[in-house]
Amino acid sequence: MKNKKRKILITGSSGFIGNCLKNFLDKKYELYLIDKKKLKKNEKNFILLNLTNSKKVLRIINIIRPDIIIHLAAQSNLEEIKKKNKYIQNNIIATNNVLQAMKLYNINNIIFSSSANIYSDTKKKVTEKSNVDPKNIYSQTKLSCEKNIINKSKLFKFNYIIFRFFNVCSALKRPYCGSLHLPESSFIPIIVNKFLKNKTIKLYSKGIKDSPTRDYIHIFDLCNALSKAINYLLTKKKSNIFNIGSNKSISSFDLISFFNEKFAKNKLKFKFTKSRKGEIKKSECSNIKVKKFLEWKPHKSELEKIFKDELDWQKYCINKKIFRKFVY
Ligand SMILES: NC(=O)c1ccc[n+]([C@@H]2O[C@H](COP(=O)([O-])OP(=O)(O)OC[C@H]3O[C@@H](n4cnc5c(N)ncnc54)[C@H](O)[C@@H]3O)[C@@H](O)[C@H]2O)c1
Repeated sequence: MKNKKRKILITGSSGFIGNCLKNFLDKKYELYLIDKKKLKKNEKNFILLNLTNSKKVLRIINIIRPDIIIHLAAQSNLEEIKKKNKYIQNNIIATNNVLQAMKLYNINNIIFSSSANIYSDTKKKVTEKSNVDPKNIYSQTKLSCEKNIINKSKLFKFNYIIFRFFNVCSALKRPYCGSLHLPESSFIPIIVNKFLKNKTIKLYSKGIKDSPTRDYIHIFDLCNALSKAINYLLTKKKSNIFNIGSNKSISSFDLISFFNEKFAKNKLKFKFTKSRKGEIKKSECSNIKVKKFLEWKPHKSELEKIFKDELDWQKYCINKKIFRKFVY
């Protein structure tokens, strides 16, 4: 007789990471999906639910009784940073509702998507022990959720994995899925979009040396880490916090130069424009801990692969007339 599949609940399943993760884990687990917006019709085991509604959250989680909740749902678009209440509701309140349901129905495990944004600006690689200094409402609510999860895990006796994601990018194939952020503000999709549309990229910096530096992780490698975290929770039954990035960073200027050389035959145009207020200058991940504990390593986070898959995804969206909107 076959082993019964474990039940995994993914919140934020209509978002970039949630949708890709659903495809990545599809055959292995009995998946349940929650989001306040519907991505497509007749999605199996999809529940349209706003996690700020505490009564409904309790009712649905009581019905599903998952082995693990992968909590990705959040207000994460930095374009709405002035609407503070949206971050408080969709991040702090929604996460607290999920934790209350875990308490009531003895759900033993949660995986939470935090962000590299919580760290203070530093020229060094950040480890999980580096100083935190969340500068905007998004990262403040993420850090507050982390603290709530850690405190409640002791009171309610569940295990957690907190992942601090760096810049997640690119796309999966078979089936095709990638970012559909509205509007898209990540730099890699913007570079590819400007190239396909023959438009000029804005580089938010005074000059070459000043351009912000980031650590990019391919969505495939991220999904693989999340999959390994499921096994870790089910077998080791322990909590942990992991950075998840590629262990190297690149400046926006060098990104453009790389794309120009490898894909655009130097036809990609760009111009410098005023730096954005409050933007971290450098963010680079130390991924030593996650490599050790989850026996994970990145396979697809080389820049050439990242750009190739993003290019294919955007061409696919154009072909299928999938609506995309970019910040500029
Ligand atoms: N994409 C990245 O580079 C990145 C980096 C760091 C952290 N993260 C975190 O990873 C998670 C997923 O990121 P993403 O890029 O897929 O974001 P996304 O915006 O594409 O997806 C988030 C999803 O959550 C849903 N959601 C928001 N509030 C909800 C609520 N109250 N009830 C139900 N659903 C709700 C949205 O409808 C959306 O579909 C987020 O928590 C984000 O903060 C992402």
